[in-house]
Formats: sequence, structure tokens, C-alpha cells
Amino acid sequence: MFRLLTTLHTIHRIVRDDCSIDAADEHLWAFRGFYEDRADPHYRARTWQKVQLASIGPQDVVRMSVEEMAFMMRVAMEIEDPIVEYSHQNGEGFRVLLPSLARFMGRSQIEALYAKAHGLDWCESAWCAEERRHGNAFAKAIERLTNVAPPRDNPNEPRAVTADEDAAIAHLVGREAAEWSSSSTYVVMAAHAAGALHGLLRNLARDEIKHLCILSAADHYLRGPRPWPRVLELVRVGLKNYRDQRARRSGGRRIGAHRATAFEVIVAHLFVEWRVRSWLRTVPLQTLATVFETVPESAPADPTMDPGKQRSAEDRLAQGRARRAALLRWSPAARRRALGPVSHRSHQRSLQRDDQIRNNRYVRSVNARP
Ligand SMILES: [Fe+2]
Ligand SMILES: [Fe+2]
Repeated sequence: MFRLLTTLHTIHRIVRDDCSIDAADEHLWAFRGFYEDRADPHYRARTWQKVQLASIGPQDVVRMSVEEMAFMMRVAMEIEDPIVEYSHQNGEGFRVLLPSLARFMGRSQIEALYAKAHGLDWCESAWCAEERRHGNAFAKAIERLTNVAPPRDNPNEPRAVTADEDAAIAHLVGREAAEWSSSSTYVVMAAHAAGALHGLLRNLARDEIKHLCILSAADHYLRGPRPWPRVLELVRVGLKNYRDQRARRSGGRRIGAHRATAFEVIVAHLFVEWRVRSWLRTVPLQTLATVFETVPESAPADPTMDPGKQRSAEDRLAQGRARRAALLRWSPAARRRALGPVSHRSHQRSLQRDDQIRNNRYVRSVNARP
């Protein structure tokens, strides 16, 4: 019991620090930095704290067996490994719904063809750069803990996604649920780790919290404030993912079998959701519009597409932009509140928050603390 309480306290402390308002502000602004300030390497991939991988060993696992930790990492690695396929889904799925998010998380088919023809990286976005390091980090840590390199032959299998609106919204919720689950699970692993292993897991958890913050803010921008429907939707998708992983992962039947760990993972989900929800309440709509309407570099034209099709693709993008500006996916009450007259005080408050988010620099935040 004492061990469980100590771990829950540590989980609470990690979430409080890594999902603070300051940290979340920074994550959101990093999205804009990716487009506007590409010279800054922190915006191309979040800065990781230095960790001596060679010093990771079984002594770094606390209040949990080394075998259990290695098992959790193995599941995480298999889920993380197919990053290229996910970036296909993101680039194509969000192409019309929210083009800046599509570009941040992948490439559309046209962009992919262009990149291939010009020998460019498949995906050089911040999300790809950050996700790309996760599977490898887990593989190295598992090897340090068990002295055996884990096989990489059982990766996740992402499904194809089209750019139509319903599919894109479903994909957005699916990604949010996945980032919520990875943030929470890595926080629990970090709470059971010390030394270099703790440092590595905090790096991973912070990356995932960044993705969760950005996707949750995008959802809030597209569909309005809807805290309870949002959490119910995420739980529904999360439970489905959990059942799928139990069926597919190596030794998947063991997922959730350790009662105390399962309880810690559930509590971590609640802490993370509470923090993200409290933060979202404070982010002004104007800031969200500034961040998400950042125009991606013009997508290369597809030389094989006839001019009529090209025009209709451009029309779809313009319609998508207009729908977002009119808050058409918001509930009527939330839309009226957002677009109606506001008091002088709340206007001043949102200007102050906008300023705070714009001026948030990662050097001040926990995310780049040396
Ligand atoms: Fe990841
Ligand atoms: Fe992620």
C-alpha cells in the first residue's frame, strides 16, 4: 500500500511539472514555431535532456520488477515502431480538415510523391522527428535492462485514412486517444524509474504530452469546448485500443494483468486529462486561430492532376477554412458565446493570455531545463 501511494504521489508530481500551464503553452506555441521559426532546432524536434544510455541498468527500476518494466517497454516499442505509416494517415487525413496539422504530422499523397521525386525526407515535421526517436529509445533501454536486443517484428498496423470530414475527425480522436495513452503510460514508467532511465522516460513522456496538448487544442479549435463529450469519446476509443493491443501485442494478454500497475495507469490518465482540460479552458480562441491557421508552405502542385481537379482541391481547402472561421462544428450555444459580444474584462483577460502564450519561451520551461 505504501509503495502504491508513493508511486501515485510521484505520478502526480511528474504530471504537475510536465503538463503545467507553462509547458502546455510552450507546446502549443512550438506548433507555430515549426512554421515560423524553422532555424530554431527546438521547433524542429523538442529538445531532449541529455541522458547517458550506457548507464541505464536494472538498478534504475524502482517499485516494479525489471521484467514488468521491460514488458511495458516492449509493448510501447511495438506501438511506436510504424511511425512512417502514421504520418501517411495524418498527412492525408487532416489535409482538408486542418492543413497546418496535416503538415505538422505528416505528408499528403501529393507531397509524398513530390518528396520521393526530389529525394527529400519522407517526413521532416516535428511530430515525425519526435516520434521517430521513441521506438529506438525503447529498444535501447530494453537491451540495457535485459541484455537482449528486442525483436522489431511485431509493429502496430495503422489503417488507411481518407481526407473526408468524418474520417478526419475520427482520425483526430484516435490520435488524441493514442497520445493520451502514451503520455500517461510513460509517466507511470517514469515514476518507476530512477537515474538515466528516469531521464529517458521523462523525455519520452514530455514528447507525448506535447502531442496531446497540440491535438487537444486542435480538437478544441475545430469542435469547440466540450470537456465531457471529449473525455467520453477518448475513453471509448482508448478502451477499444486497449482491447486491440491485448489481442495483438507480443504477450498482450499480460497487459493490465498487474492490478497495481493498471490502477496507476488509470490514475495517470485522469491526472493528465485534468491538467489538459484546465489548460484548454484558459487558451483564447484568437490564439488557437493564430496557431492553427498558420499557412503551411504551399504544397507542390501535382503535375499529373488536371487543372479542373486542381481547382476543386483548392475550393475544398477554401471551404474548410471558411467552416473553421465560422465555428460551424461548434455547438450553437458555444458558438454564440464565442462570437457574441464580450465584456471588457474578459477581452482584457484573453489579450493577456494570448501575450503570455506568445512570449512563452522554452528556456523558461521545464521542458528545456538542463
Ligand atoms: Fe511516441
Ligand atoms: Fe506522440
